[in-house]
Amino acid sequence: MNILSPSILSADFWKLGEDIRAVEKAGVKWLHVDVMDGLFVPSISYGMPILQCVRPKTDLFLDVHLMIEKPERYVQEFAKCGADLVNFHIEATEDVEGCIQLIRETGKKVGITIKPNTPPEAVEAYLELVDMVLVMTVEPGFGGQKLIPECLDKVQVIRKMVADKGLSTDIQVDGGISLDNVHMALEAGANVIVAGSSVFKNDACVNAEEFLKKLQ
Ligand code: DX5
Ligand code: ZN
Repeated sequence: MNILSPSILSADFWKLGEDIRAVEKAGVKWLHVDVMDGLFVPSISYGMPILQCVRPKTDLFLDVHLMIEKPERYVQEFAKCGADLVNFHIEATEDVEGCIQLIRETGKKVGITIKPNTPPEAVEAYLELVDMVLVMTVEPGFGGQKLIPECLDKVQVIRKMVADKGLSTDIQVDGGISLDNVHMALEAGANVIVAGSSVFKNDACVNAEEFLKKLQ
Protein backbone atom coordinates (compact mmCIF):
# COMPACT_ATOMS: atom_id res chain seq x y z
CA MET A 1 0.00 0.00 0.00
CA ASN A 2 1.31 3.46 -0.90
CA ILE A 3 1.13 6.20 1.73
CA LEU A 4 1.41 9.99 1.55
CA SER A 5 3.01 11.67 4.57
CA PRO A 6 2.77 15.48 4.18
CA SER A 7 5.57 17.33 5.99
CA ILE A 8 4.28 20.13 8.21
CA LEU A 9 7.66 21.85 7.91
CA SER A 10 6.13 23.68 4.94
CA ALA A 11 2.78 24.36 6.62
CA ASP A 12 1.73 27.83 7.73
CA PHE A 13 2.30 27.71 11.51
CA TRP A 14 -0.07 30.62 11.98
CA LYS A 15 -2.83 28.23 10.94
CA LEU A 16 -1.29 24.82 11.48
CA GLY A 17 -4.57 23.28 12.63
CA GLU A 18 -6.35 24.40 9.45
CA ASP A 19 -3.55 23.06 7.27
CA ILE A 20 -3.70 19.68 9.02
CA ARG A 21 -7.51 19.55 8.65
CA ALA A 22 -7.08 20.29 4.93
CA VAL A 23 -4.90 17.22 4.33
CA GLU A 24 -7.18 15.09 6.52
CA LYS A 25 -10.10 16.18 4.36
CA ALA A 26 -8.18 15.09 1.26
CA GLY A 27 -7.92 11.58 2.74
CA VAL A 28 -4.36 11.65 4.06
CA LYS A 29 -3.56 9.16 6.88
CA TRP A 30 0.00 10.11 7.91
CA LEU A 31 1.71 13.35 8.91
CA HIS A 32 5.49 13.87 8.76
CA VAL A 33 7.05 15.86 11.61
CA ASP A 34 10.63 17.08 10.99
CA VAL A 35 12.72 17.72 14.09
CA MET A 36 16.03 19.58 13.54
CA ASP A 37 18.59 20.42 16.20
CA GLY A 38 20.98 22.85 14.46
CA LEU A 39 23.83 20.35 14.95
CA PHE A 40 23.08 17.27 12.86
CA VAL A 41 21.59 19.63 10.28
CA PRO A 42 22.23 23.37 9.91
CA SER A 43 18.71 24.45 10.80
CA ILE A 44 16.46 24.29 13.88
CA SER A 45 12.76 23.49 13.49
CA TYR A 46 10.54 22.38 16.40
CA GLY A 47 10.15 19.52 18.82
CA MET A 48 7.99 18.08 21.57
CA PRO A 49 5.56 20.99 22.06
CA ILE A 50 4.28 20.69 18.49
CA LEU A 51 3.64 16.96 18.91
CA GLN A 52 1.95 17.47 22.26
CA CYS A 53 -0.30 20.07 20.69
CA VAL A 54 -1.18 18.12 17.54
CA ARG A 55 -1.53 14.63 19.09
CA PRO A 56 -4.82 15.11 20.96
CA LYS A 57 -6.43 16.84 17.96
CA THR A 58 -5.92 14.28 15.22
CA ASP A 59 -5.91 10.55 14.56
CA LEU A 60 -3.33 10.92 11.80
CA PHE A 61 -0.35 8.57 12.12
CA LEU A 62 2.47 10.83 13.32
CA ASP A 63 5.69 9.96 11.53
CA VAL A 64 8.52 11.74 13.36
CA HIS A 65 11.79 12.31 11.49
CA LEU A 66 14.54 13.13 13.96
CA MET A 67 17.45 15.04 12.43
CA ILE A 68 19.31 15.30 15.73
CA GLU A 69 22.69 14.25 17.15
CA LYS A 70 22.62 11.28 19.55
CA PRO A 71 18.93 10.50 19.03
CA GLU A 72 19.07 7.94 21.88
CA ARG A 73 18.77 10.92 24.24
CA TYR A 74 15.26 11.75 23.03
CA VAL A 75 13.58 8.89 21.16
CA GLN A 76 11.54 7.73 24.15
CA GLU A 77 10.40 11.25 24.91
CA PHE A 78 9.15 11.71 21.35
CA ALA A 79 7.25 8.44 21.67
CA LYS A 80 5.70 9.73 24.90
CA CYS A 81 4.70 13.00 23.22
CA GLY A 82 2.60 11.16 20.67
CA ALA A 83 4.78 9.90 17.80
CA ASP A 84 3.45 6.71 16.19
CA LEU A 85 6.75 6.10 14.45
CA VAL A 86 10.14 7.41 15.53
CA ASN A 87 12.71 7.67 12.80
CA PHE A 88 16.37 8.55 13.38
CA HIS A 89 19.50 8.92 11.23
CA ILE A 90 22.00 6.08 11.51
CA GLU A 91 24.75 8.67 10.89
CA ALA A 92 23.77 10.46 14.12
CA THR A 93 24.47 7.68 16.62
CA GLU A 94 27.21 5.21 17.52
CA ASP A 95 24.63 2.71 18.74
CA VAL A 96 22.02 2.09 16.06
CA GLU A 97 20.77 -1.17 17.60
CA GLY A 98 20.51 0.37 21.05
CA CYS A 99 18.49 3.24 19.66
CA ILE A 100 16.17 0.85 17.79
CA GLN A 101 15.71 -1.08 21.04
CA LEU A 102 14.82 2.08 22.99
CA ILE A 103 12.07 2.87 20.50
CA ARG A 104 10.81 -0.74 20.47
CA GLU A 105 10.42 -0.60 24.27
CA THR A 106 7.87 2.18 23.85
CA GLY A 107 5.70 0.03 21.56
CA LYS A 108 5.97 2.57 18.72
CA LYS A 109 7.13 1.81 15.20
CA VAL A 110 10.79 2.23 14.33
CA GLY A 111 12.41 3.86 11.33
CA ILE A 112 16.02 4.42 10.31
CA THR A 113 17.16 7.08 7.86
CA ILE A 114 20.13 7.59 5.55
CA LYS A 115 21.47 10.79 4.02
CA PRO A 116 22.25 11.06 0.28
CA ASN A 117 25.93 10.10 0.69
CA THR A 118 25.32 7.04 2.89
CA PRO A 119 25.36 3.81 0.87
CA PRO A 120 22.32 1.53 0.89
CA GLU A 121 24.38 -1.33 2.37
CA ALA A 122 24.57 0.66 5.62
CA VAL A 123 20.98 -0.32 6.48
CA GLU A 124 21.24 -4.00 5.57
CA ALA A 125 22.15 -5.27 9.04
CA TYR A 126 19.12 -3.56 10.59
CA LEU A 127 16.38 -4.46 8.12
CA GLU A 128 14.93 -7.24 10.28
CA LEU A 129 14.75 -4.85 13.25
CA VAL A 130 12.88 -1.88 11.78
CA ASP A 131 9.48 -1.10 10.27
CA MET A 132 10.64 1.53 7.80
CA VAL A 133 13.77 2.80 6.05
CA LEU A 134 13.82 6.46 5.00
CA VAL A 135 16.05 7.25 2.05
CA MET A 136 16.64 11.01 1.97
CA THR A 137 16.34 12.39 -1.55
CA VAL A 138 17.86 15.77 -0.56
CA GLU A 139 20.46 16.75 2.05
CA PRO A 140 18.39 16.96 5.23
CA GLY A 141 17.87 20.38 6.78
CA PHE A 142 15.48 22.37 4.63
CA GLY A 143 12.21 22.02 2.78
CA GLY A 144 11.78 23.12 -0.81
CA GLN A 145 15.00 21.64 -2.27
CA LYS A 146 15.43 19.80 -5.56
CA LEU A 147 15.29 15.99 -5.68
CA ILE A 148 18.67 14.25 -6.13
CA PRO A 149 17.62 11.53 -8.62
CA GLU A 150 20.64 9.29 -7.86
CA CYS A 151 19.17 8.67 -4.40
CA LEU A 152 16.37 6.73 -6.07
CA ASP A 153 18.94 4.13 -7.19
CA LYS A 154 19.49 3.42 -3.49
CA VAL A 155 15.77 2.90 -3.05
CA GLN A 156 15.92 0.22 -5.74
CA VAL A 157 18.83 -1.52 -3.99
CA ILE A 158 17.08 -1.48 -0.60
CA ARG A 159 13.77 -2.65 -2.10
CA LYS A 160 15.64 -5.67 -3.50
CA MET A 161 17.34 -6.36 -0.14
CA VAL A 162 13.95 -6.25 1.59
CA ALA A 163 12.40 -8.60 -0.99
CA ASP A 164 15.35 -11.02 -0.85
CA LYS A 165 14.95 -11.25 2.91
CA GLY A 166 11.20 -11.84 2.57
CA LEU A 167 10.42 -8.71 4.60
CA SER A 168 7.63 -6.15 4.18
CA THR A 169 9.63 -3.13 5.37
CA ASP A 170 8.23 0.23 4.27
CA ILE A 171 10.58 2.40 2.22
CA GLN A 172 10.07 6.13 2.55
CA VAL A 173 11.50 8.94 0.42
CA ASP A 174 11.78 12.52 1.63
CA GLY A 175 12.88 15.68 -0.12
CA GLY A 176 12.02 17.35 -3.40
CA ILE A 177 9.10 15.08 -4.22
CA SER A 178 6.47 16.72 -6.41
CA LEU A 179 3.46 15.69 -8.47
CA ASP A 180 5.78 15.64 -11.50
CA ASN A 181 8.42 13.26 -10.12
CA VAL A 182 6.58 11.10 -7.57
CA HIS A 183 6.17 8.36 -10.20
CA MET A 184 9.98 7.96 -10.25
CA ALA A 185 10.04 7.31 -6.50
CA LEU A 186 7.22 4.78 -6.76
CA GLU A 187 8.88 3.01 -9.69
CA ALA A 188 12.12 2.76 -7.69
CA GLY A 189 10.22 0.92 -4.95
CA ALA A 190 9.31 3.57 -2.38
CA ASN A 191 5.85 3.16 -0.84
CA VAL A 192 5.80 6.03 1.70
CA ILE A 193 6.09 9.46 0.13
CA VAL A 194 6.92 12.60 2.09
CA ALA A 195 5.95 15.87 0.44
CA GLY A 196 6.27 19.25 2.14
CA SER A 197 6.32 22.30 -0.09
CA SER A 198 4.46 20.63 -2.93
CA VAL A 199 1.52 19.93 -0.61
CA PHE A 200 1.41 22.92 1.74
CA LYS A 201 2.69 25.79 -0.39
CA ASN A 202 -0.48 25.84 -2.48
CA ASP A 203 -3.98 24.54 -1.79
CA ALA A 204 -3.05 21.74 0.63
CA CYS A 205 -6.33 19.87 0.19
CA VAL A 206 -6.26 19.90 -3.62
CA ASN A 207 -2.56 19.05 -3.83
CA ALA A 208 -2.87 16.18 -1.31
CA GLU A 209 -5.82 14.81 -3.32
CA GLU A 210 -3.74 14.93 -6.51
CA PHE A 211 -0.89 13.09 -4.77
CA LEU A 212 -3.21 10.44 -3.39
CA LYS A 213 -4.56 9.79 -6.90
CA LYS A 214 -1.02 9.26 -8.18
CA LEU A 215 -0.26 6.91 -5.30
CA GLN A 216 -3.22 4.63 -5.98
C1 DX5 B 1 14.12 18.00 4.91
C2 DX5 B 1 12.94 17.37 5.59
C3 DX5 B 1 11.79 17.15 4.69
C4 DX5 B 1 11.17 18.38 4.12
C5 DX5 B 1 10.65 18.01 2.77
O1 DX5 B 1 15.24 17.88 5.71
O2 DX5 B 1 13.30 16.10 6.11
O3 DX5 B 1 10.79 16.34 5.32
O4 DX5 B 1 10.13 18.92 4.87
O5 DX5 B 1 10.23 19.15 2.13
P1 DX5 B 1 10.05 19.20 0.55
O6 DX5 B 1 9.00 18.19 0.18
O7 DX5 B 1 9.61 20.61 0.32
O8 DX5 B 1 11.37 18.89 -0.07
ZN1 ZN C 1 11.66 14.75 6.81
